[in-house]
Amino acid sequence: MNRAVVEPDLRAILEQEHSPVAPDEISVAEGYERWAPLYDDDPNPLLAREERYLEPLLQTLRGRSLLDLACGTGRWLERSVAQGTTLAVGIDSSVAMLRIAHQKSVIRTHLAGANSENLPFSDATFDLAICSFALGHFPDLGLVVRELARVTKPEADVFVSDLHPEAYMRGWRVGFRYADAPMHIKTQARTTEEIIEAFCSNAFECQTQEALRLGEPERHIFDRAGKTNYFSEACSLPAVLVCRFRRADLKRGHERSGEWS
Ligand SMILES: C[S@@+](CC[C@H](N)C(=O)[O-])C[C@H]1O[C@@H](n2cnc3c(N)ncnc32)[C@H](O)[C@@H]1O
Repeated sequence: MNRAVVEPDLRAILEQEHSPVAPDEISVAEGYERWAPLYDDDPNPLLAREERYLEPLLQTLRGRSLLDLACGTGRWLERSVAQGTTLAVGIDSSVAMLRIAHQKSVIRTHLAGANSENLPFSDATFDLAICSFALGHFPDLGLVVRELARVTKPEADVFVSDLHPEAYMRGWRVGFRYADAPMHIKTQARTTEEIIEAFCSNAFECQTQEALRLGEPERHIFDRAGKTNYFSEACSLPAVLVCRFRRADLKRGHERSGEWS
């Protein structure tokens, strides 16, 4: 029997395999169906690095409405609800990922099955949106950004993070192991400029872009995976791209100044 042995494919992330198209690349639907059961248990240095940067920014959500686009098992949604958002919704296209999210009582009633390309929300619903480690899976990024522009309010903040394009170009992949073989989930290669352009040509302004490198706080993940040898090399590349966009207020025609938090 082909038993699922799912564990983080740190090797794929850290050994920098150089093949631009992995021979074992699987569809997004199939990938997350298989990965979902152990997604939350996978120690992942990229997610850890992103959390280290974003978590302090998510301390002041009280009174705001939040959309977690492609929320997966609810990693950010859970934190956001705990911060006292007035409305917090996570959508995802994977039933398997949502099933895991649904086991978390805090967010059980905050989930919806939907595609990012066709969001089941009224115009101008959200003050804030997060899209974490999913951009690369969207075949038509412009379509998703237009939906984001539609459902966010003028001056809403949108945070997006993903594997950094430079790391992707160097062969890094986010994946997992299945039946002892590395699996890579289908991902579109895009440059940082292409990502920013997709937002800026659809009613957003880019406030900040950060190229985050792994650091000492992530070392223990390498150690535990027996990959200590790769740690220094992994730290030499930008690992995670995090961009903050602001939805333009087209009526006012100028951007609000001041900090999100
Ligand atoms: C790497 S996981 C990230 C989950 C979560 N945002 C996090 O950071 O832990 C990527 C997620 O994107 C979802 N996804 C991919 N394409 C999608 C689409 N077109 N619409 C909605 N969800 C999508 C997958 O089902 C998966 O749950």
